[in-house]
This record gives sequence, structure tokens and C-alpha cells, in this order.
Amino acid sequence: MSTSKRQILVTSALPYANGSIHLGHLVEYIQTDIWVRFQKMQGHDCVYVCADDAHGTPIMLRAQNEGISPEELIARSDKEHQADFSDFNIGFDNFHSTHSPENRELVEYIYKQLNNSGHIETRTINQAYDPEKEMFLPDRFIKGTCPKCGAEDQYGDNCEVCGATYSPTELKNPVSAISGATPTEKESEHYFFKLGDFEPMLKTWIQGEHVQPEISRKLNEWFEAGLQAWDISRDAPYFGFEIPGAEGKFFYVWLDAPVGYMASFKNLCDKTEDLDFDSYWNKDSDYEVYHFIGKDIAYFHTLFWPAILAGAGFRTPTGVFCHGFLTVNGLKMSKSRGTFITARTYLDNLNPEYLRYYFAAKLGSGIEDLDLNLEDFQLRVNSDLVGKVVNIASRCAGFINKRFEGQLSAECAEPELYAQFAEARDKIADLYNKREFSHAVREIMALADKANQYIDEKKPWVLAKEDGKDDEVQQVCSMGINLFRALIIYLKPILPTMAEQSESFLNIEPLSWDDIATPLTDHTINKFKPLMTRVEKEKLDVIVESSKANLAQTSKAPKPVAKESKTEAVADHIEFDDFAKIDLRIARIVKAEHVEGADKLLQLTLDIGDETRNVFAGIKSAYAPEDLQGKLTVMVANLKPRKMRFGVSEGMVLAAGPGGKDLWILEPHEGAQPGMKVK
Ligand code: 2FM
Ligand code: ZN
Repeated sequence: MSTSKRQILVTSALPYANGSIHLGHLVEYIQTDIWVRFQKMQGHDCVYVCADDAHGTPIMLRAQNEGISPEELIARSDKEHQADFSDFNIGFDNFHSTHSPENRELVEYIYKQLNNSGHIETRTINQAYDPEKEMFLPDRFIKGTCPKCGAEDQYGDNCEVCGATYSPTELKNPVSAISGATPTEKESEHYFFKLGDFEPMLKTWIQGEHVQPEISRKLNEWFEAGLQAWDISRDAPYFGFEIPGAEGKFFYVWLDAPVGYMASFKNLCDKTEDLDFDSYWNKDSDYEVYHFIGKDIAYFHTLFWPAILAGAGFRTPTGVFCHGFLTVNGLKMSKSRGTFITARTYLDNLNPEYLRYYFAAKLGSGIEDLDLNLEDFQLRVNSDLVGKVVNIASRCAGFINKRFEGQLSAECAEPELYAQFAEARDKIADLYNKREFSHAVREIMALADKANQYIDEKKPWVLAKEDGKDDEVQQVCSMGINLFRALIIYLKPILPTMAEQSESFLNIEPLSWDDIATPLTDHTINKFKPLMTRVEKEKLDVIVESSKANLAQTSKAPKPVAKESKTEAVADHIEFDDFAKIDLRIARIVKAEHVEGADKLLQLTLDIGDETRNVFAGIKSAYAPEDLQGKLTVMVANLKPRKMRFGVSEGMVLAAGPGGKDLWILEPHEGAQPGMKVK
């Protein structure tokens, strides 16, 4: 890894100011925070900013329903969100709001730049209107009967029962979700950002590793579908910033939200002497800017946002890192199952570092969904953190404290063993840097196993009973303490509180990555206090029950307000009939080849008995073509052929694993014949 000091600005998506932070949000904040803490430990200048996303129709209506002003709602949310983040140890350098003077100034400046360069056009459009409430209705605020399957009470943009997407005018018996009135249609002039002007720039931008390969594939589909101009205005009444020179027209919340990243940073620069806004944002800046986001908002961040920045004369992001959604016990978070868990409900019952560790142990650099299985969570935290890591210190500290007045031995007893721990630093650093946290955790836990093995072999508790073995007891236990310290260095980005408590137990300054090079010798440690207790099943039960109780409370609350974007959309149960539609077949890989220009894909020719299929499979990170030729595997044979950049893919092979090298295609026993149906 490069040793030169980097200047890095990092953001997480801005939470809406009308809802509580929940565990789904925390996947992202924890992922980002670990990455930022890691970069800071490397000695880089890494600044992490965020803000509340304070504008838009849902916030305006929520405030109205509660009988308070939007400003009061925002202030309340800000307090609640900041307390949640701080208790989860999310170490923002600044947390601001999109309803701020900095944001207004920046969004107006950006708009003027775009307008002056001819990237804004106006057009009159027809839109659903609530005649009672006298306001235009966003699609999500119209409900009715699905035109495809007849399900009632569906939103105006898509049906949650059959998955169909449509326009609100196609809904049967439409009603306004706000007043219950039947919507009418009304004309209004809107302002559009001409995204198509930036197609060449965006096509170049996505070539440069600014986005993950999965997202770049998605972007190519969007390019193929054509880039439409983006409607950036909303009519009054709206809570947001009025567009200069356009009375009664406001910037759409999604225009000023990402500008909020810059505004929060600007607010920080104004309070901090040696941070210069322009050095990070000027169009030739070689500083790094990264956005961590959920995959559902990739469109905004990988198309609109870089285009807007370029159009307004700013630099574009160095990287946009998407993650998947959170499921709990394998299913979409659900209020009725008690798995829609807010940050506060969790914090009222359990140590936040348990969750930080569990998420880290499951997070990779891809966009796969992440499952919080509550039983696995309990087992894993107890076995890894309490059973392996803390155990090393607690097994050794007692002897050092009681017999040697806290004094560690003058020399490292097993320099070779220590060297094995120290030598892991670059590999673990590289994994953190690449956001391969689950892999980093596996490496660290393998070292924890080694440390425990060492103590088990040396048995200081036996030596302590033998005469003349005092020196050896001190050496073995000092070695154990040093191995524990090494693990804490590596775990510090994930477990900042445990690291801090360990630093005070070890009686040392805050640990940095470089401290791994030198073990602690001839040094006095403090008395050991338990660093972490076990996760108790009862506490998990209380969390689930309280989350159900939260539901009972919210259902008594005034009218629910629809959301403007879906952030927790993950697959729930599917019907057996849906499953039965999938035609799974045994296939023999008759040919496997590299695909020129593709980072992840291999081109497979599959024999399924009566025909051969051409399939592009994203398994290059795990297999060389020659390893695959001749193997049997399982494919989805009735997947609609998909046109890809490299050709048409006629199905899909099944593979399992977290990704990267750890990906395995399914291999049926020999005896299975190509073409056989999988039952
Ligand atoms: O989807 C959301 O929750 C949005 N509030 C995220 C905004 S991120 C950025 F663009 F500000
Ligand atoms: Zn439907």
C-alpha cells in the first residue's frame, strides 16, 4: 500500500429528517465509519461528513400532521439522529442539514452554472393534483387498485403485490393518500436538467473504476435505455429552497440532497482552519471524494450527481460505493415480526460494538444483501469477541497483575510468533482499504485462534503452580498480552470502544497501525476489567418484543406519511408457484473463455443435453477458464436472454459465497447428466 499521506473526504447517504435511524441504515454508517477509522489510523487526512436530508413533501406533510413547523421537525430529528450515531460510535467530523445557508448558497450557485451553460430547459407537464389539498401529488402519494392484478391500496408507481410498474394515471379508482380526494390532472411548468448532455462524460467516468462492476453494468443498461432529462423542480406548497427567478417553484429534494454533502463539508471548513473547501472540490483536485450509499440510490449518485458536478465546474467523485440491503433472519425487516429494529431500541438493550462486529464480519465490497440472523449474531459475537479475543487478555492479565505488579517481561518471549502477527498488517490493511471487511475479520480471527493455541500449549495456570517457573509465567502471559494488543490494533476500526478500554488497560497512548511493529516490553499495565460481556438471548427477545410494541405505538400515531423512495426494498417470501417457474438444469461446461474488456465475466458454453447455451457468468474472480472446462454445474435455463455489452447471455449459472475468490459454482455429483431437471 502507498505510504504517502492521502486527503480523503467521505460521506454516507443523508438520512431523511422524518424517520428514526434503524438497523438497515446502520449497515451503511457502520461500513463507512470502519473505513474512515481505518484510513485515519493509517495517518491519512480523512474527513467524514453527513447531514439530515431535510426537504421534500413527506417532511412537509409529517410536520403538518404533527401540528409543528418543518423546522421544528428537523430540529427534533437532528437531535435524535445525532444521539443515535454518536452512541453507535459513528465518528462524523461534521453532521449538518440540507436546510442550511451553506446548502442554499451551493445549490443556487450550481443551478446558475447549469442554467448559464444551457443545461436547464423548461417544459409544461401534466400532473396529478389533489383538489382538496390544493397541491400536486408525487406518484407515491396516490393510491388505488393495481391495473395489472387488481390488488387494492397500491401506490401510484408500482404494485407491491405483483411488482408491476405503471404511471399513476393507469391506477384504477385512484385517491390522494393525503386527503382521500380523487386526483385531477393539472398543467404546470417544470425545470429539467438535461442529463443527455453529459452522456459522453458519464460513459468515460464509469470506465475509470469509480463505481463497482455491478453498478457499471447497470449504468450500461441505463445508457442503452437512453438518458432522459431530469425534472428538478416542484410546485408550491413544498418544503425546500425556492428556485431563483422562478416564484412558486422549488428545487426537488433530490437535487439539493447530494449538494448537502458539499454543504456539510463547507460548514466544517468554515469552522476548521486547515481545511480548504476548494482544494477538495475544484475540478482539477487530486484529493479523493467517496460516497457510501445503498444500491437503491445508485441512479442519483452515479448519473445525476457526477453530471451535475461536472456541469457546474466541480470535480466528480473518486468513488461511489454501493452496499446491499439488510434482511433480518433472512427476510425483509418487518414491523409485525419485530425485526424492524430502530437504533434506539437496539441501544437500549445491547452493546453497539456487537453489531459493528457482526456487520463487519459479513460485509464485502459488493452489493449483495446482508443478513442479520439473530441466533448467528449471538453465537458469533460470543464465540469470536468474548470467547477468543477478550479471553486472551483475561487469561493472562490476572497473572501479570497479581504476581508481577502489572509488569510485562523485558523481552518478547516468542519473536517468531509475534512476527507472524505483525506480518499480517499489509494484508489486513489492504482488505480494509478494499472494503473487504469480512475477509479482514477472517484473517484477524485466524490470528486470535493462533494466540489461544499458544496459551493453551503453554498453560500458564499449570506453570504458575510449579516452583521456579515464575519467569516463564511472566513471559508467556506477556506474550499473550502482546498478541491481544496486536488483535486490538487490527480490530480498532471496527471496535473503537473496546480499543479505547484496552488502551487504558494496557496503559498506552491510542494505538496506531504502525504500533504493530513493536511489542510492549518492560512496561506496566493496569488492572484488567472485563472488556465485553456475552450477548444474552433474553436481550434479543426484548428487542424483538419492543419493536413489535413500537409498531403498536406508531399505528396509533396520526396518518402515516408515504416515503419518497424505498430504502428497505428486499425480497420477502415468494410463493411456491414462483419458485416452480424456475427451470434449473444440470449443465456441462464445454468451454470457458475470458471476455475481452470484462473484469468479472467469463463466457461459458453450456451443454444442457438437447442444446448448448452461451452464458456470461461473473465468476472470473474465483475461477480460471481451464478450471471450469468439463465440470458439471447448475443453470437457470429459462431466464429471459439478456443483451449484455459482450453478447447475449442465455441463462445463468448458480454460485454461492461472499464473492471475490470465495465464490463456488454448484457442482452436482458425477452421474448427473446434462439437461436433467433439478428437483
Ligand atoms: O434515500 C434516502 O434516504 C435519501 N435521504 C438519501 C439522500 S443521499 C444524498 F443524496 F443526499
Ligand atoms: Zn399488481
